[in-house]
Formats: sequence, C-alpha cells, structure tokens
Amino acid sequence: MITHDAPFTIRKAAPGDEHQLGDLNRAFNGTSPPSDHIRRSLESRPEVVFVAEEENALIGFVALHLMHSFCYDAPWVEITEAYVAPSSRRNGVGTALLQHGLRMAKELGAAQVWLRTGQDNHAAQRMYQRAGFEVTSEVVCRHFLSAHIP
Ligand SMILES: CC(C)(COP(=O)(O)OP(=O)(O)OC[C@H]1O[C@@H](n2cnc3c(N)ncnc32)[C@H](O)[C@@H]1OP(=O)(O)O)[C@@H](O)C(=O)NCCC(=O)NCCS
Repeated sequence: MITHDAPFTIRKAAPGDEHQLGDLNRAFNGTSPPSDHIRRSLESRPEVVFVAEEENALIGFVALHLMHSFCYDAPWVEITEAYVAPSSRRNGVGTALLQHGLRMAKELGAAQVWLRTGQDNHAAQRMYQRAGFEVTSEVVCRHFLSAHIP
C-alpha cells in the first residue's frame, strides 16, 4: 500500500470492493455488471485493478491487462479503464493510480504500456502525456459481433 501527501492510498482491489467498484463503474460507464461478476474478475487474472481509497471509500480505479504474443519477446500492458470520482479530481489521484500501474507493469516484465482514450478527452490525454505517454498514429478498429460477419 502506498500513502501520498493527500489523504488517499493506492492498493490492489480485492474481493469486498465489488460493490463500490460497481458504483464507480456505473458513474463512469452508465452501467455495470452484477457484483458477483466483478468479484470473480477481481479473483482471476489477467486483469489487475488498483483502487484509490480515502477514509474507507473508493474514489478511483485503474484496470490493467497483461498481454502476450508469440510475435514479441516481452509482454505488454494495456490500461483498459481509469476513473476518479468527480469530487476527488485534480488532486493527483488519477496520476497516482497511473504511476502505480506503470510500476506494476514494469514489475510484471512488460516492455510497454498502451491505452485508448477519446479524441475529445483532453483531461485524460493531458494526464497521460504528463505521465510520459505519447500519442501514436495507430487507428482503433472495432467489430460488434452481433452484426453480420462476412
Ligand atoms: C482523467 C481522470 C482520470 C483524471 O483524474 P484526476 O485525479 O483528476 O487526475 P490528476 O489530478 O492526476 O491530474 C493530472 C493532470 O491531468 C490534467 N488534467 C486532469 N483533469 C483535467 C481537466 N479536467 N482539464 C484539464 N487538464 C486536466 C492536468 O494537467 C492535471 O495536472 P494539474 O491538476 O496539476 O494541472 C479523471 O478526470 C476522470 O476520471 N475522468 C473521467 C473518466 C475518464 O475519462 N477516464 C479516462 C478514460 S481512458
């Protein structure tokens, strides 16, 4: 557990956090899976979730996936989600979660950390760039599998 100047701590999410994580996720994404689904995710790999906690309340989280391919020597990490509750923003919580994620990625042997964010999400882009991320020229593609597969 890491303690910061601000009265919050960063730790790995654990079973028991599922209800608060669901609330944060609902505030972020508008919806969230049932608590038992979140609990099972916390108990299994490859996802690792870190939470920021203040006075026993979760105020933010970051989720990471360790990725492998036979094409590369080293694994890499994708940050799939990052969220800080509105009342706790601009206090270094997002950066602390991110930095914790970067340290863990290095410990896991990852060579790089990737993430996607909205083109108009300037707050997140600023945070990521301040933490050392660079914007690439990659294009993100998606296929909804409920649609016709050619
Ligand atoms: C993006 C987010 C995680 C940032 O969390 P945070 O705790 O406020 O971030 P920090 O306090 O560590 O901010 C770090 C830097 O990012 C930049 N930043 C953060 N929010 C900003 C905003 N609203 N406008 C402009 N710059 C912003 C600033 O440079 C800030 O440093 P400063 O406060 O010293 O100026 C938070 O705004 C959030 O949860 N947004 C909604 C969810 C989201 O967009 N997640 C990312 C999806 S990939």
